[in-house]
Amino acid sequence: MRTRRSLGFGRSAALAVGLTLLAGAGLAAGLSGKANAQATYEIEPREPEYLYARTCGYCHGHNIAPIIRGRNLPPAVIESIVRSGMGAMPAFKPTEITNTELEALAEWLSQSEVDPEEHGG
Ligand code: HEC
Repeated sequence: MRTRRSLGFGRSAALAVGLTLLAGAGLAAGLSGKANAQATYEIEPREPEYLYARTCGYCHGHNIAPIIRGRNLPPAVIESIVRSGMGAMPAFKPTEITNTELEALAEWLSQSEVDPEEHGG
């Protein structure tokens, strides 16, 4: 009787510990899953045209910064300026524009045509 009782208690205690561990592991997995998605950018890359219009076009082509379309600027130069910034231009971190997005954006910009609607700064 005694043995059975203590065994019963032991089991439920073990179950409680097990459940706590499972909950903890689940939470940790959930959190690290989220962190991974941010660190490795397992999200759809945004299109160059969209990024240019939403981010760069705020200044470039709108009287604030020099025209950068249709100038055949080398992609490597564009990438380095975007990451380091230049004068009044802020630097963009990989958390803002991913490496994959930046590569495509630089390639697109380098080969883009002049947009007659744009005005330099
Ligand atoms: C807040 C305004 C602003 C934003 C947003 C911005 N830039 Fe700039 N950018 C500037 C300014 C101002 C300069 C000129 C800096 C100087 O000459 O000192 C510049 C310069 C540059 C140059 C060099 C141009 C040249 O003629 O030498 C490149 C390339 C460039 N930016 C690319 C980009 C790209 C790509 C983006 C978007 C990811 C971007 N910029 C977003 C303001 C901005």
